[in-house]
Amino acid sequence: MKNLLVTGGCGFIGTGFIRYLLLNSDFKGRIINVDKITYAGNPDNLADIEKSNPERYVFKKADICDPDAITHAFKAYEIDAVCNFAAESHVDRSIVAPDAFIRTNIEGTFNLLEVSRQNSDRLVLFHHVSTDEVYGSLGSDGFFTEKTPYKPNSPYSASKAASDHLVRAYNKTYALPVTISNCSNNYGPYQFPEKLIPLMILNALEGKSLPIYGDGRNVRDWLFVEDHCRAVWEIMKGGTRGQTYNIGGRCELANIDTVTMLCGLLDEMVPKTDRTSHRDLITFIQDRPGHDLRYAIDCSKLEKELGWAPVETFETGLRKTIQWYLDNSNWVQRIKSGEYLRWVRQHYGNDE
Ligand code: NAD
Ligand code: TYD
Repeated sequence: MKNLLVTGGCGFIGTGFIRYLLLNSDFKGRIINVDKITYAGNPDNLADIEKSNPERYVFKKADICDPDAITHAFKAYEIDAVCNFAAESHVDRSIVAPDAFIRTNIEGTFNLLEVSRQNSDRLVLFHHVSTDEVYGSLGSDGFFTEKTPYKPNSPYSASKAASDHLVRAYNKTYALPVTISNCSNNYGPYQFPEKLIPLMILNALEGKSLPIYGDGRNVRDWLFVEDHCRAVWEIMKGGTRGQTYNIGGRCELANIDTVTMLCGLLDEMVPKTDRTSHRDLITFIQDRPGHDLRYAIDCSKLEKELGWAPVETFETGLRKTIQWYLDNSNWVQRIKSGEYLRWVRQHYGNDE
């Protein structure tokens, strides 16, 4: 893997992956980051990398649905591997406006596969990053394994399921060398503040209410983003082509317990001046339609075959995450004020 095309590298996990590959891993090649810069993509995330690693990092603003742009990137940079993070990723947005999810997640993945197939003489790997949400919802027991049938419930998870099927089909039909990973909920630095954990941290710091959907008993399996990124790289290097690997933190928590724990850490790290607890800000609001009850990943295949295990516990990962948001108030302000999007439009034009 000399010239790795990473899509969606300006988003939360893509940023973590590029930083991990260039700063902390044994990857020796060059990364070409193709990102459309939607509301969730932020070029600030990799500005330092662009400056310090010009020979190993290239950024191209492009849509994964655009065959000409992707073909051009393949030719110009002699792409020999792909890691596809680009997606519309927020369940709540997919409920309100599913169109972009169908386009980017399904048509975009299809376009990447087609261009990869046309350049398959050089291609050693197409890795597709996906979610455990394709498996649907669990009851109070059991785990998702790689053999669990797909049963997606939201437009987001249905679009990711479709993309997974296409990737698998390109391996079976065209012998494209692919791997797929299905990961549980991530948290950590650079996460766009509309997902549960960053939203709760930032609301709590501003003394705003902490909105929990329904009764807060829905369970998610949390994984620190760097542990996910390391797992993806291990799968890319050592995973069997044509196979799927589940990635999870063995860290199941009901949402109310997650937010309560977060509030406890905030009370310790940034105590309120009146000494009341951040917990007092918790409010229960109307439930999300089709809200999956429980996700829990069995990641024993990844552990056994590739020797991966998460490094962070939920507490150490949450502390790091809170500290990162405290240390990066400029990043937060630029997002909240819309300044980063104005900057993107000035630099790249308004093509939305
Ligand atoms: P994100 O929303 O933070 O980032 C998505 C990135 O993709 C953004 O930079 C955006 O600009 C880019 N993008 C969107 N549409 C594009 C297009 N048409 N062309 C090019 N770029 C485009 O998402 P994330 O949380 O970093 O998730 C990354 C991947 O990981 C997704 O495929 C998601 O399904 C998967 N995943 C996420 C989680 C999680 O908890 N966040 C868990 C498991 C799997
Ligand atoms: P989210 O971060 O949107 O991830 P996903 O829907 O992909 O699991 O939400 C995580 C959990 O938190 C999910 O059960 C929905 C819940 N949630 C709330 O209770 N309140 C909120 O404001 C948000 C954004 C999520």
